[in-house]
Amino acid sequence: MRIALGSDHAGYFLKKCIEEFLEGTSFSVGDFGAKNADKSYDYPDAAFSVGEKVASGEFDLGILICGTGIGMVMAANKIPGVRAAFAYDEDTARLARRHNNANVLAMGGRKTDCEMGIKIVREWISGEFEGGRHFIRTEKIRAYENSHSSSASRNGSSRLVTFDHPLIQHKLGMIRDRNTSVKVFRELVQEIAGLMVYEATRNLPLEPVEVETPITKTTAFSLSGKKVAIVPILRAGLGMVDGILQLIPNAKVGHIGLYRDPDTLEPVEYYCKLPGDIGERDIIIVDPMLATGGSAAAAIDLVKRKGAIKISLLCLIAAPEGVSRIHEKHPDVDIFAAALDSHLNDHGYIVPGLGDAGDRLFGTR
Ligand code: RB5
Repeated sequence: MRIALGSDHAGYFLKKCIEEFLEGTSFSVGDFGAKNADKSYDYPDAAFSVGEKVASGEFDLGILICGTGIGMVMAANKIPGVRAAFAYDEDTARLARRHNNANVLAMGGRKTDCEMGIKIVREWISGEFEGGRHFIRTEKIRAYENSHSSSASRNGSSRLVTFDHPLIQHKLGMIRDRNTSVKVFRELVQEIAGLMVYEATRNLPLEPVEVETPITKTTAFSLSGKKVAIVPILRAGLGMVDGILQLIPNAKVGHIGLYRDPDTLEPVEYYCKLPGDIGERDIIIVDPMLATGGSAAAAIDLVKRKGAIKISLLCLIAAPEGVSRIHEKHPDVDIFAAALDSHLNDHGYIVPGLGDAGDRLFGTR
């Protein structure tokens, strides 16, 4: 787990004290914001920098400290995906995590001493979100946030794009439902993939073409030069291909088969067939679930070795762990995910997720 720490000048000493405490734990720490307590530093700059790192999945959690903690929490909560909570004792820290699922903790460096600060952080990092009625409430916040942003939003400055469009979210809700039949699940996966492809192909270059309408001659546009290849990761990725082909019927389709070595748990290639001109194509690797990111990172490695240059990854649901892995190993790759979920459970399943997408697509559960 990675924690991004940020402060202004007024929170600097508490930040250093928390950093020292975290260095003795299993967390790895990133230090942002003020570099000393002497020079005035605007708290929004630290709040935005830490908040964006958490929203993008680059860091799992964030801690922000200014004089009172108030400015930090106000600024951080402007970032979609951030749930920043102000805590001033162990109880507020515990509830911030258990009830509010806060992914950013704010404290006041002029109000909280080092000893209490450590107690607050210890309580917050060791807690777990309780879900249930609290999930319904945090979902209301998220739904409000989504209804006031565009249908696809880039998370901070990162290369992760998530989708808030009501049609996508509605269909996603249906495939999350364990009672959805294989037939309906399969249809919905194709539909969602098709809807997502609008955004994933937003930057395809166009060139002007002269056409004659029944009325007059005019200049219209046509996709220029670059072509698309869709590369599903077997087997679940297959479930998304037809939905994309409906919109880009001329796309070529490559296939990558990977299995997980039972001893090393690393993905091993067992099949790879890609279009010959892969270096000239925009590659869209598809896999419904981005969990640990192991298979996706290996698939990206593989297409790069075969000459691919422009690569995107399209998935239905991503876990922050997978997003971080791809960002780290392949910072040049854009990730398009219909939803960014909470975390992976001990079995490597995305929570809340939708279970095993391959089994649900092919009825092998
Ligand atoms: C800085 O003096 C102070 O205003 C700031 O650290 C913070 O308390 C704002 O909310």
